[in-house]
Amino acid sequence: MPNKILVVDADVASRNFIAQKLLGQNHEVLQAGSGKEGLIYAWRDLPNLIIADPTMTDLKGEEFATKLKQDARTLQVPLIALSSDSSPERIKSCLDAGFNEYITKSGQAVPMINDAIRRLLELNGDAMKKGGELIVFISAKGGTGTSSLCANLAMNIAIEQPDARLVVADLVLPIGSIASIVGYEGSENIVKVADMPHEVTSSEYFRHELPDMKHWKFNLLAGSPDPESSNQLKVERIWDIVAALKMAYDYVFIDIGRSLSRITLPLIQHADLVTLLISTDTSTLPLTKTLWEYLKNKGVHTDSIYSILNRAAGLEGLSKADAETMLGITINASMPYLNTNLAFANTHHQPFTLKFPNDTASLIFRETTKDMLGVTQKIHV
Ligand SMILES: Nc1ncnc2c1ncn2[C@@H]1O[C@H](COP(=O)(O)OP(=O)(O)O)[C@@H](O)[C@H]1O
Ligand SMILES: [Mg+2]
Repeated sequence: MPNKILVVDADVASRNFIAQKLLGQNHEVLQAGSGKEGLIYAWRDLPNLIIADPTMTDLKGEEFATKLKQDARTLQVPLIALSSDSSPERIKSCLDAGFNEYITKSGQAVPMINDAIRRLLELNGDAMKKGGELIVFISAKGGTGTSSLCANLAMNIAIEQPDARLVVADLVLPIGSIASIVGYEGSENIVKVADMPHEVTSSEYFRHELPDMKHWKFNLLAGSPDPESSNQLKVERIWDIVAALKMAYDYVFIDIGRSLSRITLPLIQHADLVTLLISTDTSTLPLTKTLWEYLKNKGVHTDSIYSILNRAAGLEGLSKADAETMLGITINASMPYLNTNLAFANTHHQPFTLKFPNDTASLIFRETTKDMLGVTQKIHV
């Protein structure tokens, strides 16, 4: 199937030139002469990719990009800026506004466009529909037990399905914590991987090169080790990295924590299961409610949300019934207060169920795991 590409440029000659080159590559081409016309065509004809000159007469190119990225219909559509303005300020403001790539009009523009199209369309499309299950972990607030439960539930799923290949990726910014929970001290991490060339970070690479966490029974793609590294993260690479992880593993767990952003939202929207950690203290419930409503508005189906009430803060706090009433949802599982045992297991880089096999919570971990798997399978039929 040919790709449908929308070219937005007020300059007819420039637009025709690009359109002709694209037609020569067997793409289907739509043309718009203004930003407003571009938006109308984008939302009506749903192109696979948009190339736009950000110098528009009717609205700012940045505004054009923002509008596309705020709309569910075009949120995922790659957007290339093709401009005669090569000032770093303009490039930055366009990339910040949501353009995926910025190409300067020059003799090299056409090969650069072709290269960008190949890359962006590979990343997009059906990439997230292929491969293993994507299970993300999120919460409205830090300290809810998101990372601890992500690592521990992943480990329990590995026990439940001994033949499955699992990976846990840490996307919590600015500092990930899964590495410290599982005791990984190596230097492989998301920031380094995202800095590698696209051709290198294939599913083969992830299958063979990611460190094996032994008794945790999963491989790890560690998170950003510090805020400085986090600032250098090439976020535009995240999508294809996760797509490649899915091709290499049966289960891809991603700790997103509370790092909800333009980058992580598409992953949440494409996840097979969204594990939402809820804390029992009254003050965080409104935050959780806001998060829940937001996700629903962004097209995340409530059936794909698996909510866990986690008593991370202690024995006090709301009951499951109270929380359900306040949130207006049914909570899938509850994790009791594990006293200092979980922190103890974490400090020793041990899975809870290995460290405390006879603790009733270990049974709850196993039950929750089975329940989660059941929910994922139910979604898939
Ligand atoms: N159910 C629980 N009982 C006791 N302590 C918990 C429980 N859940 C989490 N914790 C502790 O709370 C702290 C924060 O957990 P963490 O997984 O880092 O949360 P988050 O990733 O949401 O910030 C850790 O010290 C962890 O051991
Ligand atoms: Mg965390």
